[in-house]
Amino acid sequence: MTLLDLSDVNAYYGNSHVLFDISLSVEENEVVALLGRNGAGKTTTLRAITGTVPRREGTITFRGESIIDESVDSISNKGIKLVPEERRIFPTLTVQENLSVARGACRGTEPRPIEEMFEIFPVLDDLRENRGRNLSGGEQQMLSVARALVQNPDLLLLDEPTEGLAPVIVEDLADVLEDIVSRDVTVVITEQNVDFALDLSERAYIIESGENAWDGSIADLRQREDLLDEYLSVGEANAD
Ligand SMILES: Nc1ncnc2c1ncn2[C@@H]1O[C@H](COP(=O)(O)OP(=O)(O)OP(=O)(O)O)[C@@H](O)[C@H]1O
Ligand SMILES: [Mg+2]
Repeated sequence: MTLLDLSDVNAYYGNSHVLFDISLSVEENEVVALLGRNGAGKTTTLRAITGTVPRREGTITFRGESIIDESVDSISNKGIKLVPEERRIFPTLTVQENLSVARGACRGTEPRPIEEMFEIFPVLDDLRENRGRNLSGGEQQMLSVARALVQNPDLLLLDEPTEGLAPVIVEDLADVLEDIVSRDVTVVITEQNVDFALDLSERAYIIESGENAWDGSIADLRQREDLLDEYLSVGEANAD
């Protein structure tokens, strides 16, 4: 079943038109990568879905129902959660408290047990009483994903989860995301770390200058070095 469908979506920041007739669809339980260079429009596409871009037009449906005129809260309550590029955690609260607050703020979906988060994120289990500000970048990213996941989203939008993380932490995050995907969560992930995104996803969309440039299976994309060269600056953009 199609969970999310965007058709001819345009988005604007003030007078600046940044998405041009973007179309994409995501099936239930699928993992879809949204790829493209710096400034291509990946984050704005996710914001168009969550309603957090200042102005958007076109058709966006979730479970077949139009959400283009819905408020940010209403879209969130339908089970769409975004983990933004800038990790959103409470620095003065402990890991456990960060998860409790997120769980308590959950509307529209039945939240998952906090203990399940510690099972999925063993790193966080060891840090339950540590405050957010004392966590490493990788640990904060795990917590940021866990805060979204505890709200039991149907659709999890991950915006460049590996950005700024050391390679060994990226491997941990990959394991965690594999686990999440096996728990009936549909995921859209944007990445500049193409290898990471390809390993996790089944299909990809490439966006260039706010327009659809290509879409297809990951198997096909792996054969297309021309696309990787043209649109994805492979080897240049990986976090170090
Ligand atoms: N708040 C904003 N106000 C005005 N223009 C913006 C704003 N945010 C993004 N843009 C512009 O919109 C375009 C798309 O940006 P977006 O952040 O969606 O790209 P991206 O693919 O996520 O890039 P990155 O890989 O750097 O995260 C860019 O030209 C960017 O400069
Ligand atoms: Mg971005």
